[in-house]
Amino acid sequence: MSLDIVILAAGQGTRMRSSQPKVLHPIAGKPMLAHVIDAARALQPNSIQVVIGHGAELVKQQLAADDVSFVMQTEQLGTGHAVAQAIPNLSANKVLVLYGDVPLIQASTLKSLLQGVAENKMALLTVNLSDPAGYGRIVRDTQQQVTAIVEHKDATLQQLEICEGNTGILAASRSNMVRWLGRLSNNNAQAEYYLTDIIAMAVADQVTVTTETATQPMEVQGVNDRQQLARLERFYQSLQAQALMAQGVTLLDPSRIDVRGAVKVGRDITIDINVIFEGNVEIEDNVRIGANTIIKNSILRAGAVIKANCHIEDSEIGPGADCGPFARLRPGTKLGKNAHVGNFVELKNACLGEAAKVGHLTYLGDSEIGARTNIGAGTITCNYDGANKHRTVMGEDVFIGSNSSIVAPITIGNAATTGAGSTITQDVPALALAVGRAKQRNIENWPRPQKKV
Ligand code: UD1
Ligand code: MG
Repeated sequence: MSLDIVILAAGQGTRMRSSQPKVLHPIAGKPMLAHVIDAARALQPNSIQVVIGHGAELVKQQLAADDVSFVMQTEQLGTGHAVAQAIPNLSANKVLVLYGDVPLIQASTLKSLLQGVAENKMALLTVNLSDPAGYGRIVRDTQQQVTAIVEHKDATLQQLEICEGNTGILAASRSNMVRWLGRLSNNNAQAEYYLTDIIAMAVADQVTVTTETATQPMEVQGVNDRQQLARLERFYQSLQAQALMAQGVTLLDPSRIDVRGAVKVGRDITIDINVIFEGNVEIEDNVRIGANTIIKNSILRAGAVIKANCHIEDSEIGPGADCGPFARLRPGTKLGKNAHVGNFVELKNACLGEAAKVGHLTYLGDSEIGARTNIGAGTITCNYDGANKHRTVMGEDVFIGSNSSIVAPITIGNAATTGAGSTITQDVPALALAVGRAKQRNIENWPRPQKKV
């Protein structure tokens, strides 16, 4: 049977107290709605229909994709009304309803839910809660068959005792869904067209209501305020930490790591506290990462060591290379095998050859540095003339004296040396010593200025 998925995302999210639409608030750096769209995609549906209203333009801007259609619900008249807006776009046999603010729903749960849908069966995802306040309650008969969902605000005292709550997620055949939605009324406590009223209609039409119960309540937890958002973030991060440990990574504190993207890992990696990964990160065997480090879209080859407080983006760290503490590797940085980057070093679009060293207080931009070259403390490549960027190329075994300014474009030959404190503006041939500074003179017995009385 073919499938269309409708994701409800038109509500305002008043309790977020935000100028941003609720569904754009991120979990692990990605809008909640994007998580739901990913789960939907995994089911390979005919179409994904996102019902938008509040902040519609922003939502469209951020989540536009070839396989996502947006449907406008100008007035938020209830969840049933919201699904009805998508009806003209539906053509598959089954319809599944998801929520843009229930971000952690898993495709595997939805797959089993969909098993319970046919022309004479619909499926409902429920959850057992110790405190079901606010949730629609699942009403069952003496045979345990579902007979209705009663919204909290419409429930009797006896119904309020029911701990099985409605997650909101449900699926039915398209023909049943279309027929039932056409019969909804808003004669209830909230004067809304409740999607949940289709349950009683199914029962009246002798369509069996099958249920699936979410085993992990966080999977179906909705986000209404920032406390709930933070709780789901922590839950999501705890799952990421567990997955890393299961693959052979040591986390010194699993509650102090954040993965905002995907991390591919080898074995025997050690990660200290407060490390943040963003985008796609690949870490090979035996890498060690120090505390308070941020690594984005980068590859760390086997045995690399990142010391505390580094910021690494779009970079590749070679095998056995080490970096930090307090190093900043900006996009396009590549450290060769066993290269060394020390403290307070900034690299941008710079390649260090095998065993090259940049120990202290240095900026290298748009640079290519040969194997075993040593860059002295306080070296700056002057790569920008105010309008254009220029390259610095250094050969192998070069020695740059401390506190040098290397004015690009420039080439420094193999095994060349520059004197400390030099401003180097011209190419240096191999094996030469370049000195570009005023010559020191000593004035004997120089009288120091005296304080005037
Ligand atoms: C709904 C269910 C309730 C369930 C609860 C789970 C109904 C009538 N009730 O209640 O049984 O326990 O979810 O969280 O369905 N939305 C729209 N357009 C609208 C109305 C809502 O897009 O006109 C969207 C909202 O943005 C939100 C979702 O639908 O993402 C749920 O709406 P909300 O009003 O929060 O439903 P609840 O009252 O929580
Ligand atoms: Mg409501």
